[in-house]
Amino acid sequence: MDKPIFLIGFMGSGKTTLGRKLANHLNLKFIDLDHVIVERIGMSIPAYFTQYGEQKFREMESQLLKEQRGKRAVISTGGGSPCFFDNMEWILENGISIYLYLTPKALHNRLQQSNIASRPALQGLRDEALLQFIEEKLDERAPFYKQAHIHIDQLNTSLDTICQSIETYAENK
Ligand code: S3P
Repeated sequence: MDKPIFLIGFMGSGKTTLGRKLANHLNLKFIDLDHVIVERIGMSIPAYFTQYGEQKFREMESQLLKEQRGKRAVISTGGGSPCFFDNMEWILENGISIYLYLTPKALHNRLQQSNIASRPALQGLRDEALLQFIEEKLDERAPFYKQAHIHIDQLNTSLDTICQSIETYAENK
């Protein structure tokens, strides 16, 4: 595979965990775009949001996304990565993209159990307010996510099936 495989989807959809497994399975390198950003900015993402604001973060994210061109790797992106600038168009042209979809309720369950503090967009949100935020944000972002080449029902799809979908896509394009 001479193009990266990008995993896209909402926060909490399991892009990093699945990305690691998929990379292992396909004998490819795994890259977590959020980690690439953290390494480059030299601070945590919440600290960067507080100090420089979301706009600067999105610019950095877009630049570092595009630096992944041509890598033989599985790359997990941040939940907002495909939704700013021409990032989704770029992902479609330069990689194989996989959208991991879950219902708002399932995302809510997973995010309630996660470290909310590590995600600036979710600061202060819990219970009903968190669910409402997920529903609204997912509505806003779904048109970008849905452009992905491959759609995967994250909770009900085996790794083998995902690999088959990638193969089928690569053969038929
Ligand atoms: C964001 C998602 C995060 C991270 C940043 C912004 C978002 O990545 O890029 O906090 O706007 O959805 P994960 O999807 O890996 O949590």
